[in-house]
Amino acid sequence: MADYILAIDQGTTSSRAIIFDKKGSIIATGQKEHEQILPKAGWVEHDASEIWRNVQEVIGLALSRADLTRHDIAAVGITNQRETAVVWDKTTGKPAYNAIVWQDTRTQDIVDRLAADGGVERFKPVVGLPLATYFSGTKIAWILENVDGAREKAEAGDLIFGTTDSWVLWNLTGGVDGGVHVTDVTNASRTMFMDLETLEWRDDILEAFGVPRSMMPEIRSSSEVYGAAEDSSLLRETPIAGILGDQQAATFGQAAFQKGESKNTYGTGCFLIFNTGEEIVHSKNGLLTTVGYKLGDQPTHYALEGSIAVTGSLIQWLRDQLGIISSAPEVEELAEKVEDNGGVYIVPAFSGLFAPYWRPDARGAIVGLTRYANKNHIARAALEAVAFQTRDVLDAVNADAGVDLTELKVDGGMVANDALMQFQADVLGVPVVRPVVAETTALGAAYAAGLAVGFWNGVDDLSANWQEDKRWEPSMEEAERDRQLRLWRKAITKSMDWVD
Ligand code: G3P
Repeated sequence: MADYILAIDQGTTSSRAIIFDKKGSIIATGQKEHEQILPKAGWVEHDASEIWRNVQEVIGLALSRADLTRHDIAAVGITNQRETAVVWDKTTGKPAYNAIVWQDTRTQDIVDRLAADGGVERFKPVVGLPLATYFSGTKIAWILENVDGAREKAEAGDLIFGTTDSWVLWNLTGGVDGGVHVTDVTNASRTMFMDLETLEWRDDILEAFGVPRSMMPEIRSSSEVYGAAEDSSLLRETPIAGILGDQQAATFGQAAFQKGESKNTYGTGCFLIFNTGEEIVHSKNGLLTTVGYKLGDQPTHYALEGSIAVTGSLIQWLRDQLGIISSAPEVEELAEKVEDNGGVYIVPAFSGLFAPYWRPDARGAIVGLTRYANKNHIARAALEAVAFQTRDVLDAVNADAGVDLTELKVDGGMVANDALMQFQADVLGVPVVRPVVAETTALGAAYAAGLAVGFWNGVDDLSANWQEDKRWEPSMEEAERDRQLRLWRKAITKSMDWVD
């Protein structure tokens, strides 16, 4: 068997291809950012065709950097930004509209319309999610209601839907020439249409949203062979054998296979996932119920999730919209120039507030400003906002679980930021632990693919690969932690009070 697995990570800001060996070590990476299209306040789009071009390019980059060919790749895994909706014409391969990104809030009217009959928790007992602009369901409905001719084409069976895993898979397996139209259970659990128990689409919910069932991909497990890369691809004939939504992939890559294990990923947003084993647990504290993973025919593992919409993208905002830094890592340099936040708190409610508040009407707030405050304080407050939001989610997880987490496994781009991780441990009051391979998202997808083709024998092989790199112990006095949290929660109320 070939010696490597290639993972495609189609994320919110970039697409990457990463090649892993059997130990889970990174051999080579290709990465390319795509445009964030922001046509109006609250709207966020991607060009799905650009994403597909980038995916092909980064596969080539990773292979050439590793000096490998398709013959060295045993299987391909896909992981992706979840909830981002692509609707395309299966006869031409062309998107009917730009991909509507998970952060986009344009569908609030559709949410309100659906919630008028039964409230926002109307479908929650079946799908685990409240009605919210975040999930893909209302985004599909918006395209059908607003793009000329879309509904007719959908009803004729020409338009199909997928999150970006399905979009990449369909193109990679041949596109208009027989592309495979499939998604996995984790991505399906983010649409609002999948029944968590049966793992099938619910006709009654599709009907309520006005979405024809013929648009939906087939739901499959997270680890099985879905198809092979088409002839013109650099990966020709290589099996594509794993799909996991990026947060579930990170949980898998962290080897958090046991009930009670968890991880927090610091990317564009932050997503804390808590494994509830084979049990579907409904949150009483503002968390989502979602599928964790399903390996082939084995039982489904479920999870509770605390989703935070804006963390890394707050740093991008400092760079792109405010211009106070020229590259993301500079935020740490600025933050370290000051002793504290100078009394400044930022609540980055750019897409409303997600977990545990679920307040679509909340808006971003910077509070506590005095003339003394400068850009260093703003940078520091931005980093602290990431940690405070995580604390709010962790409190909800502890309340739902009935026991307190004793440490938090972390991963994602921002865990390279030492000051942030120390502050995170301080405001949580428990240690924060980073693994050697912090690219757990891609690693999780590689693991799912590798398991399906026998590259790894079982999850014990994967657990054996996990190694601790660094641990941050909390060092803040309890009184200071309490004071910080009190001010943070005051800032949160300001962001929720803000009404147009
Ligand atoms: O739910 C959205 C999430 O999947 C996006 O993750 O890493 O692209 O910010 P990321």
